[in-house]
Amino acid sequence: MTQPIYRDTWAEVNLDAIEYNINQIREQIPQHCSVIAVVKADGYGHGAVKVAERALKSGAEMLAVAILEEALVLREAGIDVPILVFGRVAPKDAAVAAEKDITLTFFQKEWLQEVKQTSLPQTLKLHMKWDTGMGRIGLRTDEELKEIVGELKDQSNVQLTGIYTHFATADEPGADYFNMQNERFDQLLTTFEKVWEDPVAIHTGNSAASIRFPEKMYHYIRFGISMYGMYPSSTVKEERNIDLQQSFSLHSKLIHVKQMEPGESISYGATYTTSDYEWIGTIMIGYADGWIRKLQGMDVLIEGKRMPIVGRICMDQTMIRLDKEYPVGTEVTLIGRQQNDMIEVDEIADYLDTISYEIPCMISSRVPRICTGE
Ligand SMILES: Cc1ncc(COP(=O)(O)O)c(C=O)c1O
Repeated sequence: MTQPIYRDTWAEVNLDAIEYNINQIREQIPQHCSVIAVVKADGYGHGAVKVAERALKSGAEMLAVAILEEALVLREAGIDVPILVFGRVAPKDAAVAAEKDITLTFFQKEWLQEVKQTSLPQTLKLHMKWDTGMGRIGLRTDEELKEIVGELKDQSNVQLTGIYTHFATADEPGADYFNMQNERFDQLLTTFEKVWEDPVAIHTGNSAASIRFPEKMYHYIRFGISMYGMYPSSTVKEERNIDLQQSFSLHSKLIHVKQMEPGESISYGATYTTSDYEWIGTIMIGYADGWIRKLQGMDVLIEGKRMPIVGRICMDQTMIRLDKEYPVGTEVTLIGRQQNDMIEVDEIADYLDTISYEIPCMISSRVPRICTGE
C-alpha cells in the first residue's frame, strides 16, 4: 500500500528516462554484452524497486546492490532475477543470501573457509572480485588467486558464477591507468583460465568504462549513474558518446509569500538583508530533507525563471527572493526543467563542489519519490 503524501515537496523520478538511458547504452555496447542495473543506495536515491523493475523491462538482466539488506528489499518486492551484492557480507549471513538466491562477492580465502563451516539451505552463488588498481576490495596477485581457487574446488555448498573488477579512472581524461588495470585483469584471467574450466560471467566496466571503451567490455556492464541520466564526469559529458536523460527532479510549492520592507532580515543569523521592497517566498524543504545549508545562494525555477535562495536554509524551510508576487501554491523547481530552463543535477553538484552521484542520494527519505512514466 502506498503512503498518502501530505507535504508540498516531492522528487519526481521519470522511469521513461531510465528506459531511454538503457537503450542508449545497449546501442553502444557489443551485442553479446548485457546490462547489470546498479540500484544500490535505494537506486542512487531514486527508489530501487521501481527503477529495478523498469530497468529489467528495458532489457537489463541482472541487478547489483552494495549490501545484503538492499538485495532483500528487492526480493521482498517480488523481483526474482539474479542480484549481486558488491560489498562483503559476513560469512555468518551467507545462509540468508543463499536462501534468497542472492549472489555474494568474495575475495578472501578465509571467508570461503568460514562459509564452508556454515550450513546453507541451498548452493550459494558467488562472484570473485579482483583488485586491479582500485585499492578497495579484491584479491590482487596470481598466488592469492590460485589459493582461493584451490579452496573453491574443495567446497560443495558454493558455486562460482562470475568474476569482476572495478576501474578507478575510467571517467578521467587519458586511458593509461585504465589500460594498466585492463592488463592486470587479463593477466589474472590467463592464470584463472589455467586453473578453472567452468563458464563464468565476466564484467569489468561501470558507466564511464562502458560509454568510453565499449569494445573492451566482457559479458556484462555494471550500469549505474548513467542509467539515471547523469554523466560520470565532465570528461564523459564533453565527449557526448551517448545522449542521456536525467530521471530525477525535485519540486516544492510556495507556502507563504510576503513583501518585506528595505533593511529587513531573513532566517537564522540574519545573513540576508533586503536592499529594497522585496517579495520573499517560503518553501517547505530544508537540510533535514538533504537540501543542505551550503545551497544558500543557489537558484530555483519559478515559471521558468531563476530566483535565488536567500538567508540560511533551515531544517525544514527555505526562503527565495521572488521577482514579483506569486500565489501560494506556485510550483518551485529546485532540480529539473521548467519551461526553457533546467537546473541539472550537475549544476547543484558543481555548486557544492562534489559529484552528481551525491545529489539524489543526499535527498533524504522524508522527500517522497513520485514515479512518472509507469
Ligand atoms: C563495483 C561497482 N560497479 C559498478 C558501479 C556503478 O558505477 P557507475 O555509477 O559509475 O556506473 C559501482 C558504483 O559505485 C560499483 O561500486
